[in-house]
Amino acid sequence: MKLFDVYPINDICITKAAGAYVWDDKDEKYLDLYGGHAVISIGHTHPHYVQRIQEQLNKVAFYSNSIKIPLQDELAQKLGKVSGKEDYQLFLCNSGAEANENALKLASFYNGSKKIIAFKKAFHGRTSLAVAATDNPNIVAPVNETDNVIFLPFNDEEALESAFKANEISSVIVEGIQGVGGINIASVSFLKKIRSLCEEYNAVFIADSVQCGYGRSGKFYSHDYAGVDADIYSMAKGMGNGFPVGAISISPKIKPRHFMLGTTFGGNHLACAAALAVLEVIEKDDLMINAKNIGNYLIGELKKLPNIIEVRGRGLMIGIELPGELNMVKKNLLMKHKIFTGEAKPNVIRLLPALNITKTEADIFLQAIKTELSTVNTPSLHK
Ligand SMILES: Cc1ncc(COP(=O)(O)O)c(C=O)c1O
Repeated sequence: MKLFDVYPINDICITKAAGAYVWDDKDEKYLDLYGGHAVISIGHTHPHYVQRIQEQLNKVAFYSNSIKIPLQDELAQKLGKVSGKEDYQLFLCNSGAEANENALKLASFYNGSKKIIAFKKAFHGRTSLAVAATDNPNIVAPVNETDNVIFLPFNDEEALESAFKANEISSVIVEGIQGVGGINIASVSFLKKIRSLCEEYNAVFIADSVQCGYGRSGKFYSHDYAGVDADIYSMAKGMGNGFPVGAISISPKIKPRHFMLGTTFGGNHLACAAALAVLEVIEKDDLMINAKNIGNYLIGELKKLPNIIEVRGRGLMIGIELPGELNMVKKNLLMKHKIFTGEAKPNVIRLLPALNITKTEADIFLQAIKTELSTVNTPSLHK
């Protein structure tokens, strides 16, 4: 049997990892500013994380949601506290797509409506409703196509208002900072407008925080920059620092009933131990503050460099948009400088490092990208 070949891969085999670094099978060391797609939040193989998972593994790894799992209550308490939403309710699942799937479904249960507003360049996952709300026809199969999703331009308040007037809207799903779409920030007034329209029309405001959440932006949810609460926050990626765990945090106004949502694996003992370890480290080491400080430093320094179209982002979710001729910079960062970064179309380098990277590690990257950017000619930028 061979693998179903759906991933374009780099010819690198990682065999060891610690903090902000990974090593390949030839013992070559790489600085990881990508975190396996924004997943590594507290650093690779963090000792507290390893210890908590090991201890749990030796006690009980899994039992289903048919028994009491006190670790789930402990996680709900801790998440409520660290995220500043103590009166919200927690539903645990296994991935970002599953979190959004449940959020969209729950919204429809809540208000009985069907139409979903999503935005251009949005990415919400690859399963049925999540992919239908994702603005990429290449990954939407015919069976996923639906008239229930309305795509609007991002940050366009007038279009939003018109859509609410013309349709019975169940929910609006929006990333606080679009990740796959190229690091685009939802404006404060746009998020406030979503809040007020959802209020007026009894629709549900879903804050997709799968990539931009969990402290990455310098606040727990990047939507918090708007100073308004969403009704449901979806999360995954950084939540388990590599252990597959996802969740939705649900406003007290949405009431549960038995069998409304469910999952076999979600909220298992091991996943809860991993998620608790992550929150404990975020809290103890003030990682949101570090994300903000190092992020501000990186953004400030990057803005001084030549041949960049734009630097966007908040905290440690940063996009560096480069002109088309510089399409080799990401590859050179990896192959020549041994630094992992992410990318987005058309030519955006994405930085999604662990929230505890240091200024020294930021400086290693700045030096490398400076070298790459200063040795090239970019006629398109200087026309
Ligand atoms: C904003 C956002 N939502 C949802 C998802 C889907 O998460 P998963 O791949 O865990 O299903 C992603 C994944 O990249 C994402 O970036």
